[in-house]
Amino acid sequence: MKTIPFASFEGMHTPLRQEMLDAFARMYDKGWFIQGQECQAFEEEFAAYCGTRYAVGVASGLDALTLALKALGVGEGDEVIIPGNTFIATALAVTYAGARVALADPDPVTGNMWGKGLEEALTDRTKAIIPVHLYGQAAQMDEVMAFAQKHDLLVVEDCAQAHGATFRGQKVGTFGQAGCFSFYPGKNLGALGDAGAVITNDPALAEKVRQLGNYGSDRKYHHLYPGMNSRLDEIQAGFLRIKLRHLDDYNAERDRLARRYLAGIQNPKITLPQVGPDRNHIWHIFSIRCDTRDQLHDYLEERGILTVSHYPIAIADQPAYAAQNLPRLPVSSRIAATELSLPMYVGMTEEEVDTVIRALNQY
Ligand SMILES: Cc1ncc(COP(=O)(O)O)c(C=O)c1O
Repeated sequence: MKTIPFASFEGMHTPLRQEMLDAFARMYDKGWFIQGQECQAFEEEFAAYCGTRYAVGVASGLDALTLALKALGVGEGDEVIIPGNTFIATALAVTYAGARVALADPDPVTGNMWGKGLEEALTDRTKAIIPVHLYGQAAQMDEVMAFAQKHDLLVVEDCAQAHGATFRGQKVGTFGQAGCFSFYPGKNLGALGDAGAVITNDPALAEKVRQLGNYGSDRKYHHLYPGMNSRLDEIQAGFLRIKLRHLDDYNAERDRLARRYLAGIQNPKITLPQVGPDRNHIWHIFSIRCDTRDQLHDYLEERGILTVSHYPIAIADQPAYAAQNLPRLPVSSRIAATELSLPMYVGMTEEEVDTVIRALNQY
């Protein structure tokens, strides 16, 4: 039995093999590995892709969020609202910045942040919101931005799963003060290791993120802040430059696969993902819901189809946050109990998609 993996690099990496190896050889021979021309060029190219003035390369998506919050002055005594069903890194960034996590329950249809959940999470300590463009589709950004304006809150977007996603034609990461990206290998735009970036139109914010990620220094051996070491390696930047040129094609391919899933899966036990109005979906994750999720996972695995749950434990139930007694929110808990992500990768064949569809329809 041929296994259908949850994700695979082959479809992207095999055609790029020689170009990537040539880039590696060039960088290897040059012998310049930190803060050089590759990083600068990638920052310019990624900013142009997103439609912002600046992009600052950092070491990971978690660092991008942490540095953006710190650079905006979020810290002790502040609360930051995040979705109750996000990946743990969104919460950890708030904690690393010294602030407290507050949870908003997402829209039950899209699973993404909306205005309603924010109302309930607001307190007089709320300083910022992190909308997460989860699974690859934008949060309800009109409502999030209206709420932020009304209550004078900062907005730092978590775009780790949404490279190239748009809301009303505008790229994610460009709505708030800063947009934060992960280039973890499995992302739609992934490096060959950890990497991340912060995008912004604000020159002072870009500069401060860069300084905080470089030991808090504005020039060599002169330190304005107790910063950290979080920089984008030259080698990763060089690889990312190559893959960035193909990102729209990769996203289009994922969209074709997703449409095939959407047209083919017909089983009353399974709820298909829904794309909210006025936005595209870049299908980082093809997320279905099923009341018997764990059984469905095992049933598919027995047929050689590998799936993953994003995420099986809501933030409020994570041991790391037990001491905070965060509220258990109904939609977030329900998603944690029912979510299952289907195989989705560049290079996945129509036959493979159809095998998954058949298995789901027979479940
Ligand atoms: C929603 C979300 N936020 C933040 C991160 C953190 O990114 P990284 O793994 O690069 O630190 C990820 C990815 O892992 C993520 O999916």
